[in-house]
Parts: sequence; structure tokens; C-alpha cells
Amino acid sequence: MFDGVAAGYDLTNTVMTAGLDRSWRRAVVEAVDPQPGQLVLDLAAGTGVSSVELAATGATVVPCDISVGMLQVGRQRHPGMGFTAGNAMALPFADDAFDAVTILFGLRNIADTVGALAEIRRVTRPRGRLVIAEFSRPAPPLVRFAYHEVVLPLLPRVARFAASNPEAYEYLTESIRAWPDQHRLAELMIEAGWNVVEWLNLSRGIVALHRARA
Ligand SMILES: C[S@@+](CC[C@H](N)C(=O)[O-])C[C@H]1O[C@@H](n2cnc3c(N)ncnc32)[C@H](O)[C@@H]1O
Repeated sequence: MFDGVAAGYDLTNTVMTAGLDRSWRRAVVEAVDPQPGQLVLDLAAGTGVSSVELAATGATVVPCDISVGMLQVGRQRHPGMGFTAGNAMALPFADDAFDAVTILFGLRNIADTVGALAEIRRVTRPRGRLVIAEFSRPAPPLVRFAYHEVVLPLLPRVARFAASNPEAYEYLTESIRAWPDQHRLAELMIEAGWNVVEWLNLSRGIVALHRARA
């Protein structure tokens, strides 16, 4: 599905989130706080928009994705980055390989959440960090109502103008509705073996950043 949207994916994201995606990505870089020389895996990296921001800190970043289309566009746009093909369920990396792992708007697309979280932990060094950015449950009731009753139903319509493959955005709203809230995702992380799990709401909880230690 992501192969078909790869070329216009980043621009569509920015249009459909009214530019908020940029502030969410900056918040991820702050939460990871990568140090020069550290090795960071940006999993489900898409075309590598966040990988580039992470790499600007001086860390070495490996963007990894399962979609051939995303990898192709990423390699064209950022030839210096080491894009790697890989499935989050069976990563092509050694145990304890990374100081930190990020996954932005990717975990929701993987059927076995706990399985993927356990596999990510395998490739993260002891005490290494995981930062997840995902759509979540808005905290204030009024924002939650407006988000579920107005914003989400509108997304597929906006996508008809902004996106090359609007069907992918029908799936987006369905998957956001089905996704666990902040508390439940934290429980799944603990189930997968992660420690010191905490989260931070962004944009009133429309997006949540979950952070943990291996
Ligand atoms: C919504 S995009 C997010 C891309 C990027 N992280 C961003 O923030 O723009 C989700 C990405 O997850 C990737 N993906 C889905 N299932 C995957 C899996 N099992 N392993 C690795 N990547 C996967 C898709 O190919 C797609 O590029």
C-alpha cells in the first residue's frame, strides 16, 4: 500500500496535518536526544524525513522500511543515508546493535504490535532508548469529540484532493480509530519487555510520544 503513495507522501502528510507533523518530528528528536557518534535506527522510516532530522544531531541514522517504493524515493532524495530494507517483525540487524530506535507513525501499520516491540528491543542495546510517535486519544473531551466526529471523517475527503492514492487514507482513519490509547500502548510496551515507559501528549493527545528503555 505504501509503495503507491511514496512520491507524494511527505507533502500530503504536511497538508493533511496542517503542518503539525513538523513539530511532532522535532519533538521526537528532542525525546531521543541522540548524541554525536551514536547509532540510531529509524524504523518504518518511509522516505526518511525524520531520519534526516535525527542525523542532523551528529548521530549515525539507519532508515529502515519494508516498502520498496518508500526506499526508492528516500534513496533519491537523501543519497547519503543508508536506507535498509527490513521488516519490523524480523529485523536484519544484530542483537544490541543500536543506541536508540525511533518509529514514527509506523507501529500502527504492523499487525503484531507486541511482536514488533520485542523485535525492536532485541536490536537495542541494554538501557538503549525507544521513542514511538503515533496518533492517539485526544485528552480534552471537546477536542476528542471534534477529532473523531469532524476531523477523522474529513480526512479521506481532503485526501481526494491532496493524495495520489486516496484509498490509503480511508485505511488511515480506520487504523487510527482501532489503535490503542496512550495507557494501553504503554502496557503493550511493558508486555514486550520495555522498562521506564512514559508518554507525552502532543497537540492535546492527537499524537502521543512513548519513550522507554531496553
Ligand atoms: C505512515 S508511514 C510513516 C513513515 C515515516 N516514519 C514518517 O513519519 O513519515 C508508515 C511506514 O511504515 C512502513 N511499514 C509498514 N509495515 C512495516 C514493517 N512490517 N516493517 C517495516 N516498515 C513497515 C511502511 O512501508 C511505511 O513507510
